[in-house]
Amino acid sequence: MASQHLWSTPVQLGPLSLKNRIAVAPMTRVSATEDGLATSDMVRYYRGFAEGGFGLVITEGVYPDRAHSQGYLYQPGIADDAQAQSWKPVADAIHGAGAKAIMQLMHAGALSQGNHWTRETVGPSKVQPRGEQLGFYRGEGAYPMPRAITDEEIAAVVQAFASSALRARQAGFDGVEIHGANGYLLDQFLTDYANGRQDRYGGSTENRVRLPVDVVQAVRAAVGRDYLVGIRISQGKVNDYDHKWAGGQRDAELIFSSLAAAGVDYLHTTEHDAQAPAFGPDNSDGDTLAGYAKRFGKLPVIANGKLGSPEAADAILAGGKTDIVALGKSALANRDWPRRAAGKKTLEPFDFGLLQPLAHIKDSEL
Ligand SMILES: Cc1cc2nc3c(=O)[nH]c(=O)nc-3n(C[C@H](O)[C@H](O)[C@H](O)COP(=O)(O)O)c2cc1C
Repeated sequence: MASQHLWSTPVQLGPLSLKNRIAVAPMTRVSATEDGLATSDMVRYYRGFAEGGFGLVITEGVYPDRAHSQGYLYQPGIADDAQAQSWKPVADAIHGAGAKAIMQLMHAGALSQGNHWTRETVGPSKVQPRGEQLGFYRGEGAYPMPRAITDEEIAAVVQAFASSALRARQAGFDGVEIHGANGYLLDQFLTDYANGRQDRYGGSTENRVRLPVDVVQAVRAAVGRDYLVGIRISQGKVNDYDHKWAGGQRDAELIFSSLAAAGVDYLHTTEHDAQAPAFGPDNSDGDTLAGYAKRFGKLPVIANGKLGSPEAADAILAGGKTDIVALGKSALANRDWPRRAAGKKTLEPFDFGLLQPLAHIKDSEL
């Protein structure tokens, strides 16, 4: 039977039991208030995925401090108690419709293109980010040149992730996902060309993964052993789509094993195509990034990227190196994707018009 793996249970993610293996991928929709409070539109939007049968909903990237972490105007935050309170109805709505809820914590770093609290941006080093700002999040042209973040600010960022994870827990979320992917601050530290630091956070892969590891350890210490903590990792970035780790499989081993040892419960990998080999044949044995996460992290793996057909989603689960699939654009086009897949119903294709001219939640999604 096609798609049987999507429903195979039990599905255990840290302390959580899920009803199926289908998650909504984190997607920024810039529909909060100007000062980062979650809104009633967001409650209805997120409830829709849970009602549509997704076992797990991962929120959009939520910023953890009122310093430099916000990436986009109207992005939600969890930097203070008022923001945390505003998320309670979102968590309740997801739970009320039978799904589990994870909040993604995101520091935009040098890719910040709209911050209610400051105009300045910071990154590992004073390096001009590649690519251009995202128009559907109100950006235009080149990214601003960031200032190199100081040691004191790094310590404050680590602390902000930890205290935000606690606030997410208090707001009713079942877990947090640290955003270590897609070109944002933690990935900037991981990325050779974005990180020119000469201290213990720069240089070797071991040094470049130190900040994500520090964040995982601090979050784990704050929330305790019994709370779900994951991390999302990618090679590609919103501002550098085709980036590959220079060390290939060796980098994957170091990165995934370090993050696992630091105390995450799961690894979430995202690639343009989750089923494609992560690296070339010269520096790898041809496995996928999810495959390396599983091999070197020895933890549950969520895979994302082009898995929007039930056949593709089922195939990657059948391979045994992925425990859960996360769906992005196909979930936006089909908020009841799991129900449709179960009933063998036709899926709607994703229409980029949904995110134009801006990526905010549309009335048709409520
Ligand atoms: C509108 C939109 C917003 C996104 N925002 C985030 C985000 O906040 N955090 C994140 O990790 N990925 C984000 N992504 C990436 C998705 O989680 C996912 O990796 C990407 O869409 C590829 O998966 P897909 O092929 O299933 O669409 C976003 C994608 C889209 C389309």
